Amino acid sequence: MFSTKICCIGAGYVGGPTMAMIAKKCPNVRVEVVDINADRIAAWNSDQLPVYEPGLDEIVSEARGTNLFFTTGVEAAIKHADIIFVSVNTPTKTYGLGANRAADLRFVESVARVIAENADESKIIVEKSTIPVRTAEAIRSILETSGSGHAHQVLSNPEFLAEGTAVSDLENPDRILIGGETTPEGQVAIERLAGVYGAWVPQERIIRTNLWSSELAKLVANAFLAQRISSINSISALCEATEADVDEVANAIGTDSRIGPKFLKASVGFGGSCFQKDVLNLVYLCGHFGLPEVAEYWESVITMNQWQKKRFADSVVQAFFNTVSNKRLAVLGFAFKKDTNDTRETPAIDVCKQLFEEQASLAIYDPKVETDKIYRDLAVSEDEPRLEVCDSAADAVNGANAILIITEWDEFKALDFEALYDSMVKPAWIFDGRNLLDHAKLRMIGFKVRSIGKPLK
Ligand code: NAD
Ligand code: UGA
Repeated sequence: MFSTKICCIGAGYVGGPTMAMIAKKCPNVRVEVVDINADRIAAWNSDQLPVYEPGLDEIVSEARGTNLFFTTGVEAAIKHADIIFVSVNTPTKTYGLGANRAADLRFVESVARVIAENADESKIIVEKSTIPVRTAEAIRSILETSGSGHAHQVLSNPEFLAEGTAVSDLENPDRILIGGETTPEGQVAIERLAGVYGAWVPQERIIRTNLWSSELAKLVANAFLAQRISSINSISALCEATEADVDEVANAIGTDSRIGPKFLKASVGFGGSCFQKDVLNLVYLCGHFGLPEVAEYWESVITMNQWQKKRFADSVVQAFFNTVSNKRLAVLGFAFKKDTNDTRETPAIDVCKQLFEEQASLAIYDPKVETDKIYRDLAVSEDEPRLEVCDSAADAVNGANAILIITEWDEFKALDFEALYDSMVKPAWIFDGRNLLDHAKLRMIGFKVRSIGKPLK
């Protein structure tokens, strides 16, 4: 009944949404998403999906049980599948050789071993995870040592979705990238996968390359995006020193079609599970291949981001004459960007930790991030009196000396700032880490305002 059977190993932020979109667009394809984390699979099978993404609930509930399945049966799913996506996590290694730089490939490696043990015929194995260039070689060698004699094909098909816009990114991608071997068998495998995406993506947007170009292009795409943010953030500091306005500068340069307007929003710093990890991975690879100058060039993207987060927290402390001890600071937003509940590498963690060390009292509100996650991320126990996680922005702000905007949630723009002002200790400060709010209006209400890359008034 189904023309193709797909299994995806790893039911995370990428595996879940990506496979849900394939299931929606290809009713003749059976998609099974598997994970060793039984709680996560249970959540995918419930009304409370483990990943918050606008529009995702509808897609999952439409296809689930018809051609989309979430299970913990990794081995059985491998046996049944024609195409196996590997979408497991590839965090930065925290130990041994390459610690704090190289990607930790232990999850990819263990999946390759499970595939080698359970694939009883030739399969197409697709690297969906972001991995260092030449990882396909390692996967292939694990598959070959299984001794089964099956000629599996390994493809690279990195994912470019961004969290918060995953559904629209998947529905209308700028491109689909597929890398494979240049052999006839490799080309057949590429076309088989291209056929799946071809159900909704125009052929001219499906880029075919060799394996190594595809693997490397994913790291380079993230490095270029992160570099733009660090570039504009570096300029934000210069704007503050010169009374230029970073949004005006960004607009002025972004209208040059060679530069373009996207990813020029100055901020408290970039976060998310991938930018830092993938740039560090690139830095490690450059060092590994004997290119220290190239490594140093890309490392500066991370250095600038660390500085920007610290600079923001420093500006809060300085505004209070170098002491925020026992001041109540309302932190609005904890996710690394709006429209997601993901807090991995969120700038909120660094900013809150620094202010907490300065002995501030923090009252945090985020519309989507779970309370226990915030305590865990900050490594603070739930009975710590200096940390409160609130149910609303108004609760967090009540009695506070300052509001810190860390995430650009739309609802923060619509807050009743006059009422908030009345509930605060004076002078009442706003530190807008996203340049989200109408600063002139806030000043009229009586707030003292500091933002990123704007003249101090
Ligand atoms: P995630 O941590 O949300 O999900 C990974 C899942 O893999 C987890 O649920 C984990 O339990 C599962 N897993 C690990 N080992 C397993 C095994 N042996 N068998 C079965 N399941 C196993 O990670 P993510 O955010 O979905 O990212 C996955 C990959 O995609 C990473 O390489 C990441 O760099 C890349 N990526 C992520 C994004 C993003 O927006 N998050 C975008 C593009 C690419
Ligand atoms: C990013 C890339 O945009 C995706 O293409 C890629 O697939 C993904 O990483 C990945 O490999 O994981 P994501 O991290 O989900 O996606 O979100 P982005 O929209 O890129 O934002 C990353 C961070 O940069 C956020 O903290 C965001 O607030 C910040 N940012 C973004 C800025 O500070 N300024 C900008 O102009 C844009």
